[in-house]
Parts: sequence; C-alpha cells; structure tokens
Amino acid sequence: MRILAIETSCDDTSLALVIGQGGLKTPRFSVLKNITSSQIKIHRPFGGVVPTLAKREHQKNLPKILQKFLPLPVGRQACLPAGRCRVGMGKLKIDAIAVTVGPGLEPALWAGIEFAKELSEKLKKPLIGVNHMEGHLYSFLLPQKTAISKAKFPISKLFPAIALVVSGGHTILLKMDSLTKWKKLGETRDDAAGEAFDKVARLRGLPYPGGPEIQKLAVKGKPVINFPRPMLKEKNYEFSFSGLKTAVLYYLRDNPAASKANVAASFQQAVIDVLVGKTVRAAKEFNVKSILLCGGVSANKALRSALRVAAKKLGTEFFVPDFEYNTDNAAMIAAAAYVQKLRNKKLRLIAQSNLTL
Ligand code: KG4
Ligand code: ZN
Repeated sequence: MRILAIETSCDDTSLALVIGQGGLKTPRFSVLKNITSSQIKIHRPFGGVVPTLAKREHQKNLPKILQKFLPLPVGRQACLPAGRCRVGMGKLKIDAIAVTVGPGLEPALWAGIEFAKELSEKLKKPLIGVNHMEGHLYSFLLPQKTAISKAKFPISKLFPAIALVVSGGHTILLKMDSLTKWKKLGETRDDAAGEAFDKVARLRGLPYPGGPEIQKLAVKGKPVINFPRPMLKEKNYEFSFSGLKTAVLYYLRDNPAASKANVAASFQQAVIDVLVGKTVRAAKEFNVKSILLCGGVSANKALRSALRVAAKKLGTEFFVPDFEYNTDNAAMIAAAAYVQKLRNKKLRLIAQSNLTL
C-alpha cells in the first residue's frame, strides 16, 4: 500500500511517500521520500512555537513540498545538468493519504487536515486520520540503517515490551503486549522531558528548541552538580520535571559564574537517570523482551546510549528509530496509518489537540 502522509502538528511541515507491506505480525516499510521543512527560524525570536504563525507557514509549505512528490506529466522530459534525463510517467501513484489529526496545536493541525482533505477529493483516494503519538510509537518500524533492524521480525519476538515515549509534549511509559495492545503505566504530571530541555535552555539564553543545544553543551561539561532526580525513588511510573527546572533556576541564581557546560551536563544526566531508572524498573517488573525508545528526545545521544547499555545489562533487545525519524516527520505518520488500516481503526478527520495514546 502506497501512502502519502502529511504531518503538521507543531512547527515541522512534513510529507512522506511510504510503502507499507505485510500483516500485523510482519509489517515492513520502504520510505520512498520523507521531506521536512522546519519553521524553527520563524518561531525562534518568540522563544517557542506561535500557533497562528505555524498554521500560516504550513499553508505556504505544503503545496511547495507536494511539488517535490509529483511526477512529471506523461511524456515531459527533465534533464539534469550532467545530462541524465527522465521521461514523465504521469500521475502520483498512491493508495491512500494519511494526515495527523492530533495531538498538537489546533491551528497547525487544521492546516494539514484541510490540505489532505482537498488532495483526497482531487485524487479520489481515501484519507486516514492518524494519532501523532502512534506515529512516534511506530517510528521504530521504519527502515534503519543499522543492522539491528533485522532482529525485528517476526514482530511477536519483541513483546511484551516497554516503550518510553519522550517528546516536547509527552513523557509516557507503556507496556505493550503486541503492536496494537498496550497499557499506559505512567506519564508526566507536569512538564514533558522535551519541554524541560527547552525551558532549561531558555534559562541559559539558548535558542529554541533547547534539546539539541543542551546536548551540544553537555558534551563539553561534566555532570558534577547534584540536581534532584524527581520521583525516581517513588514506586510508580509517573514523572515530574518542573521541579528539576526550578532547581536549575535556583542553582543559576546562587551560582552565576557556574560553567554552562557543567550545568547542561548535570541537568541532562538528571533527566536521563530518571527516564532510564523508571524504564528499567518497568522492564524488570514485567519481564519484557524489549525496550523501545521514541519521540523527539530520543534524538539525545546520551539517553540512547544509557538506555542501550541498561537494556544490554538486562538482556533485553533495544530499539530506537534512526535519527531521521526521532523528531516530527511524516514517514512515521505513514507507518501508523498502515498499522491503523490493518486493524481497521478510524479517527475523526478533525483537529483533536488533546488526543493521547
Ligand atoms: O517529537 P518532537 O519533534 O515534537 C513533539 O511531538 O513534541 O519533539 C520535540 C522535542 C523538543 O522539546 C526538543 O527540544 C526535543 O524534542 N529534542 C531533544 C533533542 N532533539 C530534540 N531533546 C534532547 N536532546 C536532543 N538531542
Ligand atoms: Zn512529535
């Protein structure tokens, strides 16, 4: 099944053309194209994403990116300067269109949904509404450049699994019994992990989004400051990161000359200790076969490596999507749409900003 997917839940406008094959036990994907246009530069002066600006930019970007997916009209020739030419075959060959319907910023979501509806009518192809968080959850199914992906099939080998979903808006720990059956063990009571990275970066005058900036700084420092590990010792699977952000704020107030790199490294280590600590405890309690890490914060190299080491110690498999599929992208929306189609699940085609897993 060839799926053209559209993602506009926040500040990335992304389109992807993905082929999904196989059933729920062996779903396989080929990503033919995955193009993302970031709006970071536009939102940066405001220190975060401005929903109405995001909508306007999505509306501008969507038709431009779509152009890159359209084949040449029949018979038309296009030649590269080097001399290689190709002849157009005509229509865009797809079986369905997928679009994120939530969670996300409502105006931004509507930009994608309205565009997808128009396209679906024009091309006379069915439209599949997708939960953005399911996109993150299934992103590990997308083709990986590392050999580890071979260990994924049959998919039943992975379950039960613990999935740690960490993004700018969510921090969720799931116990998955199959690809489509899961139970939420816990989530954040206040800030999400990515949000904590963004807020601490802002305290340090670093640009949005803060996660990659903190990571860059942390590499140059040492985790010598003992920031709190919120809720790590509590026997539940809930998280809380707003107290940690406040601890960094007070530390900076009392130690204005503190090394930026050491503060970044210490904050990052505190977040990682909590995320890894709770995930490992869940993996032990439920005796799982694998640990999955996904969402924008899974791009953090120190977190990936800490969880990989912890999983190895436990003797469980560890899966994390390639870097291309950590932060928001449309390829993951296509993967979720394909799984959704296989299980015959339908979501309403309206913006649902509070949708969850
Ligand atoms: O999944 P995502 O692209 O968007 C949401 O669905 O929220 O996640 C974005 C979040 C931001 O908070 C960003 O700071 C964080 O992911 N992030 C990182 C890194 N790259 C992105 N956090 C820590 N380290 C990174 N390398
Ligand atoms: Zn996301």
